Amino acid sequence: MDQDQKKLIAAKASLEYIENGIVLGVGSGSTVNHLIDILPSVRDKIEHVVSSSGATSELLKQRGFEVSMLNAVGDVDLYIDGADEATKHRQLIKGGGGALTREKILAGASRQFVCIIDDSKQVGMLGTFPLPIEVIPMAQSYVARKLVRMGGQPVWREKFVTDNGNHILDIHNLLITNPMEVETRINQIPGIVTVGLFAHRPADILIVGDESGVRTLTA
Ligand code: A5P
Repeated sequence: MDQDQKKLIAAKASLEYIENGIVLGVGSGSTVNHLIDILPSVRDKIEHVVSSSGATSELLKQRGFEVSMLNAVGDVDLYIDGADEATKHRQLIKGGGGALTREKILAGASRQFVCIIDDSKQVGMLGTFPLPIEVIPMAQSYVARKLVRMGGQPVWREKFVTDNGNHILDIHNLLITNPMEVETRINQIPGIVTVGLFAHRPADILIVGDESGVRTLTA
């Protein structure tokens, strides 16, 4: 089974969490794209759908879904999204696709967050995948210097502008032994919009697609 098939089986397994009359949040990325492909099979159960990126909204519309604004629907019952790295404690690095800010908003606004990954994303410790940080453009160099002082090596994601009009710094080689502490510390730096570390609000359920099928990790 290749990684793409593992993403697909994880996406399929997440369908069982979609209950009748639900407000569903949909994340971004190649794993979630599999979910969007099969989402029409549960269309009747979905009251409203909200999206974490322009790309996801476009795909949802192509499948015939009307995408609602978060402000119009209140809290989200269930948020389904992928990740770039995940631990067994369901703490995540996200933002490889640059949609981390809206993803973090939806994760925060959701009663339940189901994360779907293939087994290559599961790690013992976060940080091998460079940590994405969305920054206000004028603060980019200042934020980069602060991150260097924390031991990281920031790399500007050139020619990339987020859905919110901001820039992304990918922080290499940052030691993330205590994810909650690192998330809190980075959040104190002015000019940072969002850090792609999901530690204070981890996934509630992590579905991992691997050779033998799916494994589900919960609290
Ligand atoms: C998008 O900004 C990310 O947070 C994605 O959720 C993450 O990069 C996972 O993407 P894939 O499913 O494509 O690996």
